[in-house]
Amino acid sequence: MKLETLLANIVHYCDIPDDKGATHIPIYNTATFDLKRQEGNDKIYDYSRSDNPTRNAVENIFNKAEGGAGCTCTNTGVSALALLFDTTLRSGDSVLVEQDCYGGTYRLLNVLKEKNNITTRYTDFLNPDAVEQIISRGNFKLILCESPTNPGMKILDLRAIAALAKKYSILFAVDNSLATFASQHPLALGADFSVFSTTKFVSGHGSVTAGAIVSKDPSLAIKVRYLSNAEGRAQSPFDAFLVSLGLPTLPYRMRIQEQSALEIAAFLKSHPDVVQVKFPGLPDHPQYELARRQMQIIPAVFTLNMVSEAKAAQLIRNADLFGEKASFGTSDSRMEIPSKMSHASFSEAALAKIGLTKSTVRISVGLEYTQDLIDDIIHALK
Ligand SMILES: Cc1ncc(COP(=O)(O)O)c(C=O)c1O
Repeated sequence: MKLETLLANIVHYCDIPDDKGATHIPIYNTATFDLKRQEGNDKIYDYSRSDNPTRNAVENIFNKAEGGAGCTCTNTGVSALALLFDTTLRSGDSVLVEQDCYGGTYRLLNVLKEKNNITTRYTDFLNPDAVEQIISRGNFKLILCESPTNPGMKILDLRAIAALAKKYSILFAVDNSLATFASQHPLALGADFSVFSTTKFVSGHGSVTAGAIVSKDPSLAIKVRYLSNAEGRAQSPFDAFLVSLGLPTLPYRMRIQEQSALEIAAFLKSHPDVVQVKFPGLPDHPQYELARRQMQIIPAVFTLNMVSEAKAAQLIRNADLFGEKASFGTSDSRMEIPSKMSHASFSEAALAKIGLTKSTVRISVGLEYTQDLIDDIIHALK
């Protein structure tokens, strides 16, 4: 079955019995459930921190969409990452992470270093030979990357990294927040976990912060679920419902946004105030072929290096249709200076390593009419 069909009728495919014929998944906004009234049911609910039918419905759909052995939905994307680290790492362990990663991942790993002596080695994953050298000399328990990377927009060869991880018996997790399961399937490419923030494209309307983690291995899926309950990371039923509202339109939204981003990125490439446009959808992107092979849709987020800090500030200040907002993948277009917002937790050295300056602007293209967005940018840069 195609993803579009699965997502168009969640209530039908979510494996949560409903004898009322609801058209969409109901919200079970309840903390507890009466055991006596569930006699004879296959699944018995007792407490919403551990299981709730609304959240379970979304988890079952994500699990099918990602091709996993189990999914757990969390209250934020960062919480899903925390659950990943808690599941795979113990005090004193090491993790290898692509250096171009979300600022919140970097901040969380700093916390884990302080609290649990978990050490992180950051490197550039574009060169598999160099990565193998590092792996063969280290004792890593987990490899984590995003692809596309955020905000550098590199495309990493997930199959090649998965093969390396397997060779050295290291668990491999992909942060799939940007591409989503509408575009890319990390587990099919060899990853052990697909972790994602559903705050972004998946829910799509900026109405909720939420996350999910899908595991390939059934025993790891059980461990994730156990820890989510133990640590209280569960997504609320209402938030699960908000996430579910975005699902039927996800692939369609992403395709329209991709087309719009392509036009806007192509326009910006020839603008005199723009030094560089980093968008994997443009044919001159260094990993364009891989991007087209690995993803079905190129997510509508790209990065600009402007001629100066002043021009970057001018663009953001004067653009009317683009809010100055963190996050991406929503129906509204937005811009940010990553070094000031999403990546503010990076050290100066870490920013320099990935070439992020105050002239770098990240743009997320929404569902507005494309020419309106282009006109707005022209006006903003006058
Ligand atoms: C790639 C990536 N992963 C994870 C997160 C964290 O998600 P959340 O903001 O839902 O906690 C973000 C947030 O921007 C992100 O960009």
